Amino acid sequence: MSEQNAQTVKVAIITGGSRGLGRSTVLSLARRGVDSIFTYHSNAAEAKNVVDLVAAEGRTAIAYQLDSGEIAAFDDFVCQVKDGLATLGVQYFDYLVNNAGTSLHKSIAETTEADLDAIYNVHFKGVFFLTQKLLPLINDGGRIVNISSGLARFSFSG
Ligand SMILES: NC(=O)c1ccc[n+]([C@@H]2O[C@H](COP(=O)([O-])OP(=O)(O)OC[C@H]3O[C@@H](n4cnc5c(N)ncnc54)[C@H](OP(=O)(O)O)[C@@H]3O)[C@@H](O)[C@H]2O)c1
Repeated sequence: MSEQNAQTVKVAIITGGSRGLGRSTVLSLARRGVDSIFTYHSNAAEAKNVVDLVAAEGRTAIAYQLDSGEIAAFDDFVCQVKDGLATLGVQYFDYLVNNAGTSLHKSIAETTEADLDAIYNVHFKGVFFLTQKLLPLINDGGRIVNISSGLARFSFSG
């Protein structure tokens, strides 16, 4: 068994873990004995609430602010992740859940170039480069889950 696999604590990184599906993922993993490093974008109070709920389960979660569409911020985020892993007593994480996201409720006629760039940066470019930057820190046998949407397969009128 390699030094990486030998870690006893399992750690997940979840983007957008402060609300919705990401929050449920952090809490569900805590109940299964997995610690988390998760991100939020704008709502620090919701993130703090998740950290407290995980602590009540007897596990540890660490929250960092990140705009997952701002690729230039990813190197600093990786440094924060390394600090977080050290706090959790490990060098590597086991699961990456690319979940952070938003939605654009505009018709084709109304959508601006900036709107489309923002969606693309968070849902595609950010997922690609965050995964790339975190690869050196993933444990042997680690797993990456990308949350998509039915809207990748169908659309609404307009
Ligand atoms: N809910 C659904 O029915 C559904 C269906 C299909 C796909 N999805 C996908 O599932 C994922 C989660 O959806 P959800 O409904 O659980 O979302 P949600 O409840 O709106 O929560 C979104 C999470 O992502 C964070 N976030 C938003 N914009 C961000 C950004 N630019 N950078 C970093 N973090 C950001 C939010 O942080 P703050 O609160 O701090 O801003 C929050 O933690 C999304 O990718 C979404 O496209 C959801």
